[in-house]
Parts: sequence; C-alpha cells; structure tokens
Amino acid sequence: MNQDEVITGDCLKVLAKLPAGCAELVFADPPFNIGYEYDVYDDRRAKSDYLAWADKWLAAAVRVLSPSGSLFLAIGDEYAAEHKVRLDALGLTLRNWIVWHYTFGVNCSKKFNRSHAHIFYYVRDPKNYTFNPDPVRVPSARMTTYADRRANPVGKLPDDTWVLRPQETDEHFGADTDTWHVPRVCGTFHERLNHPCQMPEAVLDRIIKVASNPGDLVIDPFAGSGTTLAVSKKLDRRFLGVELSEEYADAVRKRLQMIEFAEPEKPKVMAKRHKKPQKV
Ligand SMILES: C[S@@+](CC[C@H](N)C(=O)[O-])C[C@H]1O[C@@H](n2cnc3c(N)ncnc32)[C@H](O)[C@@H]1O
Repeated sequence: MNQDEVITGDCLKVLAKLPAGCAELVFADPPFNIGYEYDVYDDRRAKSDYLAWADKWLAAAVRVLSPSGSLFLAIGDEYAAEHKVRLDALGLTLRNWIVWHYTFGVNCSKKFNRSHAHIFYYVRDPKNYTFNPDPVRVPSARMTTYADRRANPVGKLPDDTWVLRPQETDEHFGADTDTWHVPRVCGTFHERLNHPCQMPEAVLDRIIKVASNPGDLVIDPFAGSGTTLAVSKKLDRRFLGVELSEEYADAVRKRLQMIEFAEPEKPKVMAKRHKKPQKV
C-alpha cells in the first residue's frame, strides 16, 4: 500500500485498492456542489448525480475505517442532511455534529452571509474508538472566569461549536478561552496556498490529535491543498491523500516536502489587503 503521499486520481478507484480497515482516521472535505471554481472538478452537478456519487465514496471511505476508526466529514448546509442519513445507514455512530463558525464568511447580497460549515464526527464502534482528550483540552469557564475551585485543573473538552474569528488570529487555543479562535484560511494568511477551499491547519490539528495516535494511518480522499496530509506529517501520523487535480496534487507534494517536524501553523495575517467580496 502507498503511504505518506498524495495520489493523483479518483478517490473511488484509490480507496477500492486499499485493504479494508487500514485507517484509524478518515477526514473528508468533499466538494459541496455549490459552484466552487476548481480547476478540474465540476462543482455544479445535478443533485441526483452528486448524491449517487456520495453514496459510492462514503461506502468506500467507511470500508477502509479500522474497527476503532473515526470519520470526520466537512459539509455545507445544502447537503448536510443527505450525508448524515447516508452515514447513519452505513452503520456508523454520530459522536458530534460540530458547527464550525468562521466570522470571515462568504459575503452574500440577498441572504445572510455564509459563516459556518458542518463537521460530522462519526465512529465505527461507539464502545471502542480512539479518543485522546488530553491533547485537545481547553481551559473551562470555571477556571478562566469564575475562579471555581471545583474546576478540573487540566481543563475540559472543547465545545461542539468551533468559533473561528479572524479578528483574533493570534489567539486560537489561547489560555483564557474554551472556543476555537481559528478563522478560515483567508487570502492574506501566511499558510494560504493556491486552492479555493483550503482548511486551516488548526482544524485538522484538533481532529488528528483527538482521533488518532502517532503511527496511525490518516486518509483524506479529497486532499485539495493537502492540509490533512501536512498536519498528519507534522504530528507523526502515516497518511494517504487522493486528489483529482494534477496541479493541486503537485502543490501538495511541494507542501509536504517543505515540512519538518513542527506544530501546525497558527493563522498569521501577512498584510492587510482588501479583496472584492464574493457574492453568492
Ligand atoms: C473542498 S476541496 C478539499 C480541500 C481540502 N480539505 C484542503 O484543506 O485543501 C475538495 C477537493 O476534492 C477534489 N476532488 C473532487 N473529486 C475528487 C475525486 N473523485 N477524487 C479525489 N479528489 C477529488 C477537488 O479537486 C478538490 O481539490
């Protein structure tokens, strides 16, 4: 089996070649079918076609999950319900329906601005799954606000709403908060690459730390800019990504080559620059 690389191709074909149960963690951020401009993939498919495809790749992703494995799926409002019904039917158990709220949202002209995505956290076996609370604990309000002696001194697990605020870019995982101050990867950010929907490393950092251990295999069927693979490498996990676009996959290979062992990027604003807002 190929490892620690991104494969250029169709995830359906690549996943089918992998041994069943090989991955401790699958993170999937598929195209949302909302008309994003990818270089190769057409993000405007008929609903029935998009969902028939989802049936196939979801089943393929579940097949490679280990008995103690977890699957995280990032998805937009338009198809969140459809994906949840499918994952339930595939026999996985929902642990959290995470709402990732980012205030640097997509500017809309005739509806409220888009400022969140859903992240479904599923496990294969609710009685036996990898869950590492300690690397992702945050200070509780009992500690930071109420000086309550009953506070657990090691902090608490994060909430299932992740608040991402670019106004506070240097503050994520700050010592005085229990929310995630991680914005989308905006055009001005140091970690920004040439991909339309790059996930912040901080989001993957939390997911990979909580649901896998060093040496485990992490699979991303839709590698995009390679965030999952980059963070896996930084955290000493084995990894395998698939990306349809040759150009994006080449950029991922360059990104992976640059990485030495290091903590994932904190969002840094390189310079203030104003972009024309996107209209949706
Ligand atoms: C939402 S993006 C993923 C972004 C990624 N999470 C990141 O942090 O950069 C979805 C990606 O899936 C790729 N893609 C679409 N269909 C695919 C397929 N059948 N197999 C593999 N990749 C595919 C697209 O080219 C696009 O780069």
